[in-house]
This record gives sequence, C-alpha cells and structure tokens, in this order.
Amino acid sequence: MEILHTISELRSHLDRERADGKTIGFAPTMGALHHGHESLMVAASTMCNVGVASIFVNPLQFAPDEDLDSYPRMLDEDAAKAEAAGIEYLFVPSVREMYPEENWTTVSLRVVTEPWEGSSRPTHFAGVATVVSKLFNIVGPCTAYFGQKDYQQLAMLRRMTTDLNFPVDVKGMPTVREEDGLAMSSRNLRLTPEHREQAPTVQRALQAGVTAIEGGERDPAAVEAIVRAIIATAPLAAEPDYIAVVDAASLRTPEILSGEIRLLTAVYFGDVRLIDNVGVVAP
Ligand code: PAJ
Repeated sequence: MEILHTISELRSHLDRERADGKTIGFAPTMGALHHGHESLMVAASTMCNVGVASIFVNPLQFAPDEDLDSYPRMLDEDAAKAEAAGIEYLFVPSVREMYPEENWTTVSLRVVTEPWEGSSRPTHFAGVATVVSKLFNIVGPCTAYFGQKDYQQLAMLRRMTTDLNFPVDVKGMPTVREEDGLAMSSRNLRLTPEHREQAPTVQRALQAGVTAIEGGERDPAAVEAIVRAIIATAPLAAEPDYIAVVDAASLRTPEILSGEIRLLTAVYFGDVRLIDNVGVVAP
C-alpha cells in the first residue's frame, strides 16, 4: 500500500491504473478506522481492481462547537487497517492540500438535507457535499462506497452524484454493529461505561419500530411513539434530537407507511451524539 499526501501524486497513479484498464473502488473516511470503515475498504478492493481509501478530517463539515479538535487522529493504526483491508492507495491530504485558499465554492443540496441531521447541524451537509465533490474530482471515475450508518449522508451523495453528473457509481453498504447491536462509530470510544451499556437501547428501539411496521402498523406517529418509549427506558439517554419514520428515498414522513421505509434517530448519551437507522419494507 502506498500512502499519498498530494492530489497530483494520487491522480497520476490512478490515471495510470485506469489506462491499464483497471477499475477503481473508493472508500472516503475521516480515520479512526473501525470494522464499519474496513467493510467499505474491503468492498472497494474486492469489488474493483484497485482499492483506494482516503483519510481526511474535513474542517468544513464541523460546526465551531463540534468535535473537530478532539476528533481522534491515529494514522499508523489506520494505515495498517487499510492495508489489511486490501487498499493499494491511501490518500491522506493535509488541510492545506485540500483547502489551499479559503474556499469560495460550496456544494449544497436542498430537500434531502433539510430535515433531521440537517436541522440539528445546519452547515454539516454542505461541508460533506463539498469535500466529497472535491474527492470525486481528485479520484476520478470510480465506484464509491458509503455506509448506510449515515443514511441521510448516503441519500444526499446519491442525489448529488446524479444532479452533478459525477462519473461515480455510489454504493450504500450495510451498517456494521457491535455484538450487542450498537452501530460501530468512532464516537463510541467516548461513551462512559454506563452510557456504553445503555447505548444498544437505540438499536432495540428502532427494531421495535420495524416489528410494528411488519405487524401491520401504518401510522408513522404510532411507530415514532413506540421508538420513543423504548429509548426512554434508558435512563441516561437524553430526549432524542429526532425520531424519523420516513420514505427511504425522500426522507419525508408520509401520511401512511408504504413501500421502503427508514427509521432514523439521533440521541445524546452525555456529550456523545449517537445516530442510527434501520430499513423496512411496509408489507
Ligand atoms: P466517517 O464518519 O469516517 O465515515 C466514513 C464512512 O464509513 C461513511 O460512509 C460512513 O457511513 C461509514 N461508516 C461509519 N460507521 C459505519 C458502520 N458502523 N458500518 C458501516 N459503515 C460505516 O462519513 C464520513 O466519514 C465523512 O462525512 C466523509 C464521507 C468521509 C466526508 O468527509
């Protein structure tokens, strides 16, 4: 595996690979890699000829009061994990390499970014869309792998790719979980032991919502109430930022549940904000 710090080096390697007829798989990350990120890297390197990953903690997607400075940085461990996952080129640019000047151009989407995470974190999605646009332009034609863990991000990036005609095939991959059901996240490391013990309640609550829908419940408000009641059984869980029972493509709440539905929530345990979601087809 080669670790590349500049845009020009990465471009020249990947142009050569494509000239040799190789397909490129790309897994963008912010590092502090866990099995969730590794699953994207394994997919990129096994489903395409050449696996590429990036590690870049993107300042643009953090609000001033968010955890940019405390975001974990551990390049040596991350590089070993990326290599074990089959990655051939690991792109690790500096902030100066990605943003040599104040950026005057921002990519932002309407509709899909407005509710849920978008209303809790108003500048976040434009930061993500802008950096992923830059990464797509740097990497070039490829298949790009994103986690369903960040479901609204995935929905936004799919739409951005079609709206702006990026030569990229966006694939959404299943959420990798701990044995007790907690979705893997680098933020889990910051949970106290007491919070960590109660955190799987979030996934259990979403699953109860799925069971209700599978059992014939068609009222989104009733499903939301079930999820809310179960999260409330964890005494250390704060009142959820949102509980969304939505159409899987538009992320809007329908009057009556039908077709592909997504249940999403964001819950604080102490100062750690956990997000999770699950999918279900209303029968
Ligand atoms: P990051 O939070 O590092 O996540 C990188 C990728 O890993 C995302 O596609 C995310 O959905 C996926 N991922 C995280 N936890 C996962 C899990 N438990 N199972 C499966 N996949 C998981 O998301 C970002 O970085 C950034 O916004 C980025 C897209 C890199 C742009 O800066």
